[in-house]
Amino acid sequence: MDIIFYHPFFNADKWIAGLQQRLPQARVRVWSPGDDAPADYALVRQPPVAMLQNRRGLKGVFALGAGVDDILAQLRNHPDMLPAGVPLFRLEDTGMGRQMQEYAVYHVLGWFRRFNEYQQQKSEARWQHLRNHSRDAFSIGILGAGVLGRSVAESLKPWGFPLRCWSRTPKNLPGVTSFYGQEQLAEFLSGTQVLINLLPNTLQTVGILNRQLLSQLKPQAFLLNLARGPHLVEDDLLAAMAAGEIKAAALDVFVQEPLPQEHPFWAHPDIAITPHNAAVALPDDAMDYIASAIRQRESGEMPAGRVDLVRGY
Ligand SMILES: NC(=O)c1ccc[n+]([C@@H]2O[C@H](COP(=O)([O-])OP(=O)(O)OC[C@H]3O[C@@H](n4cnc5c(N)ncnc54)[C@H](OP(=O)(O)O)[C@@H]3O)[C@@H](O)[C@H]2O)c1
Repeated sequence: MDIIFYHPFFNADKWIAGLQQRLPQARVRVWSPGDDAPADYALVRQPPVAMLQNRRGLKGVFALGAGVDDILAQLRNHPDMLPAGVPLFRLEDTGMGRQMQEYAVYHVLGWFRRFNEYQQQKSEARWQHLRNHSRDAFSIGILGAGVLGRSVAESLKPWGFPLRCWSRTPKNLPGVTSFYGQEQLAEFLSGTQVLINLLPNTLQTVGILNRQLLSQLKPQAFLLNLARGPHLVEDDLLAAMAAGEIKAAALDVFVQEPLPQEHPFWAHPDIAITPHNAAVALPDDAMDYIASAIRQRESGEMPAGRVDLVRGY
């Protein structure tokens, strides 16, 4: 069995050794331009078209991340990039759920207890009690109730905030009020104090965090964008913050990455920034999943994690 690997910045030697150890019968090689020899499986991130197009023998492609928007965007421009009938898989959780939980809990509690405002007071040597937020009114709304959205909801349960989620199809999650579809979006937003975005980036969700949506949240709302930069219309966030509709935001992802030096987000006192590392797949967990999925595929089963190319996630 032959496996080809391409990732713009992962440590290829570590991956080749780890996969070889888990799949001793496989020959694993780093793909480089000009390599058009047959391969059974391809492991990829932002793959050059030539890596997949016309690849003989391909039985499956594994995206080395949770989101597949990069691959699907290329597929729209090169519809023959993925040979017909070859399934595309993505990484589900593989350590990312816990990291998303840490990120969300940190910010939600910080905003709830107003720690960022106390930090500001400290810089002014100002001793002043701020009024506590009401826990019952501090409702958390999660856009996306998939692997990571559900994980984040779980981590927020112990704190007693009202929880709600919005997805394409209805969910039955204990302790989380489910809203779904365009027709229930307005109702979901109007009861949300803290909005956490964990949607996939698709043709339906791009630009969803715009002025119109942000203005429907509860007054002085908070925004956590953990999914993809193009979900947020960045100027609209600045306008919503200037108008007092959004009090603070924490952003991990941006339209342009790295975020340009001159971008107004850097200097904004109420916007926290991290460099697109809210959650990173843990190599050992990811390799365990891929090895087990390849074994399943070899025995004729369809592993979990298959991407629906039409739906876009
Ligand atoms: N910043 C980072 O470091 C980082 C790390 C990992 C992942 N991510 C991002 O997080 C995203 C979510 O990951 P995941 O594993 O949780 O994805 P997932 O399991 O595929 O879940 C996606 C959720 O979004 C919902 N959804 C999709 N399109 C929708 C639409 N048009 N309207 C309403 N709901 C819609 C789905 O609804 P249904 O359940 O009804 O289908 C599902 O609940 C990834 O796509 C990736 O972009 C970011």
